[in-house]
Amino acid sequence: MRNALRGVIDPELGDNVVDLEMVRSVEVGEDGQVVVEVALTIAGCPLRTQLRDDVTARVGAVPGVAGVKVRMGEMNPDERSALMARARWRAREGAPVTEIPARTRVVAIASGKGGVGKSSVTANLAAALAGLGLTVGVLDADIWGFSIPRMLGLEGRISGERTEAGPKIIPLEKRIGTGLLKVVSMGFLAGEDEAIMWRGLMLNRAVQHFLEDVRWGDMDYLLIDMPPGTGDVQMGLARMLPRTELLVVTTPPLAAQLVATRVVDMARKGFLRVAGVIENMSAFTCEHGTAYPLFGSGGGERLAGEVGVPLIGSVPLDPAVAAGGDAGSPVVLAGDSPVADAFVAIARKLVTEVSPVVEMSGCTARMMERVEAALDAKP
Ligand SMILES: Nc1ncnc2c1ncn2[C@@H]1O[C@H](COP(=O)(O)OP(=O)(O)OP(=O)(O)O)[C@@H](O)[C@H]1O
Ligand SMILES: [Mg+2]
Repeated sequence: MRNALRGVIDPELGDNVVDLEMVRSVEVGEDGQVVVEVALTIAGCPLRTQLRDDVTARVGAVPGVAGVKVRMGEMNPDERSALMARARWRAREGAPVTEIPARTRVVAIASGKGGVGKSSVTANLAAALAGLGLTVGVLDADIWGFSIPRMLGLEGRISGERTEAGPKIIPLEKRIGTGLLKVVSMGFLAGEDEAIMWRGLMLNRAVQHFLEDVRWGDMDYLLIDMPPGTGDVQMGLARMLPRTELLVVTTPPLAAQLVATRVVDMARKGFLRVAGVIENMSAFTCEHGTAYPLFGSGGGERLAGEVGVPLIGSVPLDPAVAAGGDAGSPVVLAGDSPVADAFVAIARKLVTEVSPVVEMSGCTARMMERVEAALDAKP
């Protein structure tokens, strides 16, 4: 339970609520009802709702949990000053483990088997989110099977920058409307032939490098395109970035569900939250409007139901997805088609319901001022 709660970050203080000692108590009832008490620095903090939702989601994803109740308390001045000291100490001593900002929502696109469209979903979802004016990082964790550079139409070599903390990689950027993509992939570090030489390198080491040594800067979302069929990266993320949420991509045939549930199991053992399911390659609709469920139907719905997470959307089978991927221009940017609409709808749902953007304005400065003032006022 505590491990699950480590996935809940107080974006303001930049650390998880367990290590910040904001979790006062966790009671597990015999009926699977869990009551978590969280102590806030200031009772009226606007982050309150977000923390409540995150705690509910994380704890709710633990096997055996039937319901979650979150009680919000307020710290007394002593607790508050201890917390501030801890947060300051961790900010100084514990130097940020990764370069991913605390307020960034981290969403990994995973699946049980290869070729179901993880990379296509990642590229289109990233483009759709940027189209909403957001800043979106894309980490291509498919170290030797990378396809993100081609799908987003980005090529070139990444440049480095020398900093006090050592050399940093600067992501390649692409503007989409008022939004921005920041992309890192092995494809920018090595030619396709050279990439093969990386085979000896542990997958996780490469991903860790991308989390620690890239100058990501501010981002609303970081999407991670996962490699097919390996639990290594999942486990690695659980350790390095436990707040990562998974979107599981599956295809309609029911046979695919067995494989997909395995990913979900693995995620739960590693305490990554599964945020939802996306069904890809759903019914193909011909120009006359007739839908042909070539690969069967109902798989996404069934998986979501079995796992107890929402089906975030279904993306129809459409050759334009593949064509857009080959041309380096995600189909969602062309707009005006059922498949583009599907991706936009998924992006909107992510932003409004599944994993909302963390808004810091209105909270940060004001709350910090009040906390500092409260501390100073203490004799
Ligand atoms: N909705 C769709 N309609 C038509 N073709 C699609 C759709 N989604 C993906 N594809 C195509 O299917 C192929 C596999 O997709 P993609 O590379 O995104 O899958 P993946 O899960 O990332 O694969 P891997 O496991 O190898 O990384 C690609 O050729 C892609 O263009
Ligand atoms: Mg892929």
